[in-house]
Amino acid sequence: MERKLATLLFADLVGSTALGDRLDPEHARDLLERFYDAMEAEIALGGGTVEKFIGDAVVAVFGAPAAQEDHAERALQTALWMLERLQSLFGDRLALRIGVNSGEVVVGRPREGSSFATGDAVNVAARLEQAAAPGQVLVGERTAALVGDAFELGESATVEAKGKHGGVAARELRRMVAPRRPRGGHGLVPTFVGRARELDWLQQASVTDEPRFALVVGEAGVGKTALVRELRERLPAGTTFRLGRCLSYGRSVTYSPLADVLRQELGLREEDPPLAQLAGDEILGLTLGLDVAGDLEPRAAVLALQDAWVGLASDMAARGPSVVVLEDLHWASEPLIELLARVLSGAAGPLLILGTTRPGRAGLPAGETLILEPLGDDEAGELADRALGAPLDAEAHELVVRHADGNPFFLEEVLSDLLDRRLLTRRQGGWSLDAGALAIPDSIQGVLAARIDLLEPPAKDALSAAAVIGRSFSAAGLAALVGSAAEVRTLVERGFVRPTEPELVFKHALTREVAYGALPKAERARRHAAYADWLEGEDASDGRAGKLAYHYAEAVDPEIADLAWRDRDEDAARLRASALRWLRRAAELALARFDLDDALELLERAAELTPDDVELWHEMARVNALKFDGAAFWESMEKALELTADQAERGELYAELAFESAMRGAMWKVAPDWAIVLEWIGQALEHTPPDSRSYAYGLLGKSMLEDDISAAERAVALAERLDDVELLSFGLFAHSVNAQLTADFETASELALRRLELAGQINDPDHLALLHWGSATAELGLGRLEDAELHALRHEAVAARLTSHHEVHAIANLITVDEATGRWDRLHERRERSERAVAANADTPCVYNPRNLLAGAVACAALGLDDEARRLEAEESALGFEGYEFWLDPLRARLALIRGDLDRVEELLDGSEKWSWQVYDFVSSIATRLDAFVAVGRAVDAAEDAERYAIPGTYLEPFALRTLGIAKDDPALVAQAQKRFEAMGLEWYAAQTPASGLPSPG
Ligand SMILES: Nc1ncnc2c1ncn2[C@@H]1O[C@H](COP(=O)(O)OP(=O)(O)OP(=O)(O)O)[C@@H](O)[C@H]1O
Ligand SMILES: [Mg+2]
Repeated sequence: MERKLATLLFADLVGSTALGDRLDPEHARDLLERFYDAMEAEIALGGGTVEKFIGDAVVAVFGAPAAQEDHAERALQTALWMLERLQSLFGDRLALRIGVNSGEVVVGRPREGSSFATGDAVNVAARLEQAAAPGQVLVGERTAALVGDAFELGESATVEAKGKHGGVAARELRRMVAPRRPRGGHGLVPTFVGRARELDWLQQASVTDEPRFALVVGEAGVGKTALVRELRERLPAGTTFRLGRCLSYGRSVTYSPLADVLRQELGLREEDPPLAQLAGDEILGLTLGLDVAGDLEPRAAVLALQDAWVGLASDMAARGPSVVVLEDLHWASEPLIELLARVLSGAAGPLLILGTTRPGRAGLPAGETLILEPLGDDEAGELADRALGAPLDAEAHELVVRHADGNPFFLEEVLSDLLDRRLLTRRQGGWSLDAGALAIPDSIQGVLAARIDLLEPPAKDALSAAAVIGRSFSAAGLAALVGSAAEVRTLVERGFVRPTEPELVFKHALTREVAYGALPKAERARRHAAYADWLEGEDASDGRAGKLAYHYAEAVDPEIADLAWRDRDEDAARLRASALRWLRRAAELALARFDLDDALELLERAAELTPDDVELWHEMARVNALKFDGAAFWESMEKALELTADQAERGELYAELAFESAMRGAMWKVAPDWAIVLEWIGQALEHTPPDSRSYAYGLLGKSMLEDDISAAERAVALAERLDDVELLSFGLFAHSVNAQLTADFETASELALRRLELAGQINDPDHLALLHWGSATAELGLGRLEDAELHALRHEAVAARLTSHHEVHAIANLITVDEATGRWDRLHERRERSERAVAANADTPCVYNPRNLLAGAVACAALGLDDEARRLEAEESALGFEGYEFWLDPLRARLALIRGDLDRVEELLDGSEKWSWQVYDFVSSIATRLDAFVAVGRAVDAAEDAERYAIPGTYLEPFALRTLGIAKDDPALVAQAQKRFEAMGLEWYAAQTPASGLPSPG
């Protein structure tokens, strides 16, 4: 069994029943037989295979059992021939309805009376036939796309089809324009790159005194035809140039390239009657398929034809230098080759006969050979950029060039396909590729599958086995699957595989994909299993975990496992266990490299195999928390909770849910409902033993959400008793944050620094980064600006290279310090890096995405760049975060203060009591609140707030003193504030002191 991309043709005779009524059964039978024979002959001519005759209908397949690159063109041409033939046999007495459709089919051993090709594409072809009018051919969309401009088709229309909701799209076939779809991707700019050396070579070959034969050899699509086209442009004026093509199928194709040449020589169009022009040389008419041999014995006719061509070629050369191109000699007939040899030996004069062929055609006349290699990466890249009319961005460039492997046809088809599916978008003068896998366009699939099908069965089998292993494979691995590696030689010789050391590689990634896609899925699964078993026996080390996980998982892919392992439950169970073991191990290893996406993918695959495994969902939840994907974190946790009724286990899960949610409080685009989290905390504390780790995590959640210092202290004590460093670190953090909230900056700093001492014992880089972030914040509280900056730089050193998300955090921390010191110029300088990081982190719902943009806006406003500030503000609001006002409003208020927009300040101050929830940007938020109260004249609030923060030696002291001074109309306090500002180096903030004070509170 095999999977194929093929074209199906359904034809049904209209009017035969009525005719049958009038005819004697014997006559009716005869009529049907004549119909069958005629249709069978046409189908054979097109290279199709008759699937079956049912009643007075015929079903044929093109591209199966052996793949054909032009299966769609063949099917349409055959449909037209069938109509003509029916007309010539039966006139208007009978008519045909035909439906043609292309798609994936499974080709298998035919059973009596049943089909060998099955799949939805077959049903659609049948529906199209039923929808066609007598004498009409209806063509499916995929076929239409495959044939491109080779056929003229009507507009697309939807026809009703039984069993197809919404009908199917169909186009009426009008006529053939060319036997093969013209190359060149639609929507692309025609262009030509590279090939300078090859063109030189050909130009030299064309300079000759006597007939000479040269051959350009290269794979399908590598650019033989394009090269010849380019050569033609460069030939000296006056050179005669003729070009003909061999055809892969059809009527009178024996001499088809010479027929083209003859018509050009005679100035004939395809439809002109040629005989008149051939006066004296009528025998040349054989080239055109004319019946001109008369009474000549056939062999004598052939000899006469050859002589006539020797004469014609010599005449041509006698007029001056001539180049005759015979394209696609891989399809050349024997008589053509014989004639060619005779011309080369018999003709005279400056004549170059230039053939093009794909590799592997034996028996061509000897001649100089030019092997056309794939384009280099640079040339391929240039081709892509020019064809698109604008450059691809670096990522898309790399993807596309790698995918096409230097084959310009593949490149063009891939680009057109991406344009069609709107996966390429124009961005800032270039193109970028939207995520979404590169697919294999049908056209490429046709070419590659046809090439693969030319292999003898053992070599083909080896190729598909190798494809199961991967783009590269070892001879031993292959032997494990097919018994021996003997066929490797054939695969190398035929150019499918490159013999690199220590592994062999598929030359084209696409060939591997097509060979893999041709295997039935159940067969793939069994081969993956065989390979995994072999590999595990060879080497079951961690280095192989990823591969083993992949092959075992493919072996038991739930989508196909029932078919692959029918009646082999034990095997299936064993393989599933292996798959799970290796998926988990590979996930662990991925996590150890902090490759979160990889880890998650592996765990998700495992969960597909055992959807009810609590531990697996729990593990996925942990990874999602590390990814700061709050929604996915909750989802997987809830799934885990659903799967267990065990109270203790549920308690543990609740504790983790509560803690992570509180700790990573901003991993949702829309802030969550904290009441739910409080409920989880309750569950955790109720169902876990009070001396357990989980209980401590429950306490931490409580401490952070309810500003409960004693809960933090209890967690710290428990952590010390349990000797759990991570727990201790989070405990100290929770305590430190709560201290900061009560303006106890000394304690906050002490705890943060104590926590920092744990750094040497913490391996998790995500956690380690948080330690430095926390200490930077704490130092700011005490006005130790230089120390804060040092901590921020250490944070950066740990975080910046971790993930794009951590890079956003690293920048956020640096920005916090800039903001607190009023160094807007420096903050502004970070803007580009910051915006790039935010863009790269767009998929992570982290509140520092908008916060970093807003901070950039404040810097711009402070520097007088208000347009720029407004752009950043707009971008921030476009991110659509909700529920984080306390995090973002302080910055918005600072912006409004700088702009003197007091209404806006007033508005933002509503709800400003929450600004002190701000953990990492605490001091700037409070400073802004003080300035804001003063600016809008809320003297009572200003004074109250200021009393709390007028703590000697802290960052907030001068802000508070100034506020008090203005609120109480006390210039001495204002002067004192000014001194402290200067001492700390906060010139910008100092300059913000309002000139006139407020009325005394009253
Ligand atoms: N050097 C090149 N620069 C730009 N485009 C090229 C180049 N070579 C080939 N192409 C384009 O790639 C596509 C495939 O090339 P071409 O048709 O010449 O391949 P071929 O080798 O003749 O293939 P086949 O064996 O199928 O006839 C064409 O659209 C062609 O214009
Ligand atoms: Mg060609």
